[in-house]
Amino acid sequence: MLVTGGSSGIGRAVVEEFAAHGDPVVVLDREEPADGFPDGVTFVGGDVRRAADNERAVTTAVRLHGGLGVFVGNAGIHDAGTTLLDLPGAELGVLMQRVWEVNVLGYLLGARAAAEELKSTAGSMVFTLSDASFLVRGNGAGVAYAVSKHAALGLVRHLAADLAPHVRVNAVAPGGVLTGLRAAVGESDDRAVYDRPEEIARAIRDLNPLGVVLDPGRLAALYRFLASEAASGMTGEVLRPDGGLAVR
Ligand SMILES: NC(=O)c1ccc[n+]([C@@H]2O[C@H](COP(=O)([O-])OP(=O)(O)OC[C@H]3O[C@@H](n4cnc5c(N)ncnc54)[C@H](O)[C@@H]3O)[C@@H](O)[C@H]2O)c1
Repeated sequence: MLVTGGSSGIGRAVVEEFAAHGDPVVVLDREEPADGFPDGVTFVGGDVRRAADNERAVTTAVRLHGGLGVFVGNAGIHDAGTTLLDLPGAELGVLMQRVWEVNVLGYLLGARAAAEELKSTAGSMVFTLSDASFLVRGNGAGVAYAVSKHAALGLVRHLAADLAPHVRVNAVAPGGVLTGLRAAVGESDDRAVYDRPEEIARAIRDLNPLGVVLDPGRLAALYRFLASEAASGMTGEVLRPDGGLAVR
């Protein structure tokens, strides 16, 4: 299997979940974690915004593992809650472009690179969406992040129809999860979103009916379920582990 953004946060938990069940994993990420990966995980350094890097990651998985059964599109960045009137148009355009290129174009290029191999193995794709794929503000999303995650929902639905009956395409849309998530600011994307963890955890709990902050390890099991035989009748579906935001 191949996971983008697998060096940190939700992606990292997905990598550990599959590796713990004996599945060999390739990670495409721009950074390698300082504490390394479990056995059976291969790191490919690269940028999801580049077609060639996505293709290199797929080729690596096929070369090492004899094929590709699961593609997890997950690498993403935030916009630190920037709303329409916070920035002049030119700066807002830069922000939108940066968020779009990782959160939407990156998913499309990963899917393109993986699709032929997944067709030949009757495999599946699982993408990380967000409560911001459905809600306007949710857990602190600004305009660029919300637009990108709504677009990613459209991408999941389109690919599910496009690739049926050969490849299933599903998604997980978490609510707030305390991770190393970074936000694009100007030309850089180095602002930590969860820089005040206790305060933010309180805000996440206050927002959802179950009063929970999601744990990446629990989320990871949902990805394995969607990629498994148990979900063989599901495509174009989104699991929403967000503490019940839809009923608020
Ligand atoms: N943390 C949350 O509250 C939350 C909630 C819902 C959805 N999400 C989504 O979960 C996904 C994972 O985010 P996370 O919270 O685990 O954050 P994270 O920062 O801990 O992990 C994201 C990983 O993606 C990598 N990455 C970012 N840009 C990249 C690029 N251009 N090329 C290659 N790798 C790149 C980063 O290096 C990092 O390892 C994202 O799509 C995010 O939008 C997060």
